Amino acid sequence: MGNGINRTLSADWPYPRLAAHRCGGTLAPENTLAGFDACVRYGYRMVEFDAKLSADNQLFLLHDDTLERTTNGHGAAAEHTWQQLATLDAGAWYGPQFAGTRLPTLAEAAERCARDGIAANIEIKPCPGRDEITGTLVASGALTLWQGQTPPLLSSFSFEALAAARDAAPSVQRGMLFDEVPDDWLRIVRELDCVSFHANQRYLTERLVAEIHCAGLRVLAYTVNDTARAQLLAQWGVDMICTDRIDTLRPHMFSAPANPA
Ligand code: G3P
Ligand code: MG
Repeated sequence: MGNGINRTLSADWPYPRLAAHRCGGTLAPENTLAGFDACVRYGYRMVEFDAKLSADNQLFLLHDDTLERTTNGHGAAAEHTWQQLATLDAGAWYGPQFAGTRLPTLAEAAERCARDGIAANIEIKPCPGRDEITGTLVASGALTLWQGQTPPLLSSFSFEALAAARDAAPSVQRGMLFDEVPDDWLRIVRELDCVSFHANQRYLTERLVAEIHCAGLRVLAYTVNDTARAQLLAQWGVDMICTDRIDTLRPHMFSAPANPA
């Protein structure tokens, strides 16, 4: 392969090997501050979470386009104002002990990161048709809300959102999320000036990890819940493993990701 292969890996990778998927993996309601509590309890120093916009452009944490699965609300998240979303229960679906848990704003997540010394992978998860503005506002928020902290790593499945993030805040590092890996992945990550390749772990091979590293990019694997698979991926050099099983993939079992000398 040509076009930039054999680049040196960036040394600017201040992140640990393990990240808690959707804040607290399966140990807490996803994308909530209760997830941060679980993350801290299990010794994790990094979270991944999903960020999107309310109808009135408040940035908040939620995975789905709709409210039903993880809140007591109904319909499209994008059709609700923040005032409406802020009243929803985002914890009772998971267990009665979490009843009353609220949807966090991006600012509240940033405060939690600062308080607990946690780094963040902010996945830009735009509501349908809102890719560009969500990318722009998340990137601006990453700059202003994370001042003085480990800089967050942005990622998205949306090319448009990441392009807008790149234009709004070029200095905030970006990673492209892929499910099946397209043949032109290198063109895509170069166009977005990404530092990392975020891969569905099932499509990763030792050879692909080596190719991505040769292109000068870090590798994140999602969502890895099997301990033996996580250890194999770490052995291949996968730089970050995003997991739901923060209770079984323990930080002491993994070394820090390699950094160039
Ligand atoms: O960022 C990795 C992972 O979170 C992507 O999938 O659907 O859990 O947001 P999803
Ligand atoms: Mg995600």
